[in-house]
Formats: sequence, C-alpha cells, structure tokens
Amino acid sequence: MSRWTRWALLLSLAIGPILSVAGGVAGAAHGATLGGPFALTDARTGQTVTDTDLHGRWLLLYFGYTFCPDVCPTDLQKMILARGALGADSRALTPVFVTVDPARDTTPVMAAYVALFSPDLMGLTGSQAAIDRIVLEYRVYVARQALPGGGGGYLVNHSTFLYLVDPRGEVAEILPASLTAAALARRLRAKMGAPGQD
Ligand code: NI
Repeated sequence: MSRWTRWALLLSLAIGPILSVAGGVAGAAHGATLGGPFALTDARTGQTVTDTDLHGRWLLLYFGYTFCPDVCPTDLQKMILARGALGADSRALTPVFVTVDPARDTTPVMAAYVALFSPDLMGLTGSQAAIDRIVLEYRVYVARQALPGGGGGYLVNHSTFLYLVDPRGEVAEILPASLTAAALARRLRAKMGAPGQD
C-alpha cells in the first residue's frame, strides 16, 4: 500500500491494538482483548489448525495476501530474517502468514507462496467467514480496492503489524513492520527471553 495509506493506518490503528493489549493485561473485564480462537487450514499440510493446536510455542503473525505487489513480500522476508537472527531460539518461534484474500489464496497458492520465504513459514487460509473472524479478532484493517479496467482484478489494502503471540496464545506485543529486521529481532528477543524456561 502507499506510504500515506500506511501512515493513516498507523494513526488510526496503532492506538487501538495497543490499548487493547494494555486492557488485556490490566484485566479482561473490559472485553478489550486482542486475538481469539480460530480454525484455519495449514496450507502445507492441508490440515485444520486451531489456536489451541499452536499453544506452547511463540507465534509471529502477519496478515496479507499473495497477490500483494510490494509490501507483503518485503515484510515477510524481514520477518524471516529477524527470526533467523534469534539463532537457536528461532525454533521456539513459528512465523505465520495469514491471508486476508482467501478467495484467491487457496491452499495450493498459499503453500507455494510461503515456500518462497522459508520452509518454516506457516501459511493459513480458510473460508471467507473463518478469515473474517480472525481479521476481526486481531483488528486487522482490510479493504478491497478494485483495479481499473473492469476485469474484476483487485488489490487488498491491509494493515501491516506483526503480532507476537505467547505460548499461552495471548498477544504479547504488536510490532510495526516498518522496523528493520535487526530491530525486530531485538524486540522479539526482549519479549521472548529464554524460550523454554517460561
Ligand atoms: Ni500486502
């Protein structure tokens, strides 16, 4: 998405999720928690994977789509680089790419796409309803934009935050994808501490 769009998103979205995380920490009584249950398809295996299946490990979630012309590939590459910088601790962190465009990002499309970045990158897709649910839970901004020409082509503008989810399945931190890979790695390491000793 364009630079101004990203800034607008930062302004409009940065506060909400951060307050939500703060609210979650302060007490779920306010109902302002971020994240939640999901049941999606792991593109590599074709099997259903739920949020509880992934408990016990750290996750780094990124929402986007395979037709994304620029931002998604850059951010995903950065995410993989940052994880790699964790060295042996990287095994405790599973990078996950969740599509916001399930109509085009079918299981085989997602499987081929995530393989371009890392054999460890999990690609999740699902029904439109299942994707709508996780998008809502993580407060992801998603807006379809028709391409000119009437051919039915479209882009999907989307927010580009990375969500670090702890082994209990709770969002531990929201990281802007504008961070460098090195800065991202530092932030991950700071939050994860020594994985396995939790
Ligand atoms: Ni994108």
